[in-house]
Amino acid sequence: MIVARTVAEFRAAREGVPAPLGFVPTMGYLHEGHLALVDAARAECATVVASIFVNPTQFGPNEDFERYPRDEDRDLALLEAAGTDLVLLPPVDEMYPPGDATRVRVDRITEGQEGARRPGHFEGVTTVVAKLFGMVQPDRAYFGEKDGQQLRVIRRMTRDLLLPIEIVACPTVREPDGLALSSRNVYLSAEERAQALSLSAGLRAASDAFEAGERDAGRLRAMVRERIESQPLADISYISLADSETLDEIEGVVERAAMLSLAVRFSGATLIDNVALEP
Ligand code: PAJ
Repeated sequence: MIVARTVAEFRAAREGVPAPLGFVPTMGYLHEGHLALVDAARAECATVVASIFVNPTQFGPNEDFERYPRDEDRDLALLEAAGTDLVLLPPVDEMYPPGDATRVRVDRITEGQEGARRPGHFEGVTTVVAKLFGMVQPDRAYFGEKDGQQLRVIRRMTRDLLLPIEIVACPTVREPDGLALSSRNVYLSAEERAQALSLSAGLRAASDAFEAGERDAGRLRAMVRERIESQPLADISYISLADSETLDEIEGVVERAAMLSLAVRFSGATLIDNVALEP
């Protein structure tokens, strides 16, 4: 496995690698959710590239950029064991060269849910992913359904910028009890960890009700809200039931594919999760 720390090093290492090239962008502190993306890329591509870059532009001024968990040695060992060929691990001034003045912004589907909770977040995500796509030039790029809005925003950007890259979605990897894996789970106390189960349990209850025929958006949202509100350490930022394509909030009857998603604050971290509802 080759580790490149500069754009120049990366370009040299990428020269002549066999196609198709699969790409897994990450912010590191890897877990089984990230590794499932590497596995999917490994199964379909001749060359697997991963990046580790904690992207400052996607964190708000009061967010956790400085304390975002990092463990480079462990990440590299995990990527190597998973069969990664090439890792891009750039410092900030390689990704944002001096005088940097370019941003990539996707409108509309970035406005609700995470976009409303974290102003500027998706502009940081699309800017860095566009840069990474330009550098890596992958045939396919792998993203987790765990970040459901991010996946849709990246798809929109890739279509709108006419990039010849296939965006592959991979299912959310969960702990045996249902909690979605996240690098931010390390911020939770034992008590918060126990109460965080209400996120997946609430989504699950609503998704079961949907399967059993419940189609009222308000009742489906309320079902999730009740489960989470009964947990004293959990503070709901939003519960959204939105059109799966446009991410416009659904009022009344759910007639098309939808995403039920949420963000819940605990003292040390905000967790997000979602499920797809398909009539
Ligand atoms: P990060 O949070 O490190 O996640 C990297 C990728 O792993 C994303 O596609 C995310 O959806 C996926 N992922 C995280 N947890 C997962 C889980 N439990 N199951 C399946 N996939 C999971 O998302 C980012 O980094 C950044 O925004 C990035 C796209 C790298 C741009 O900076």
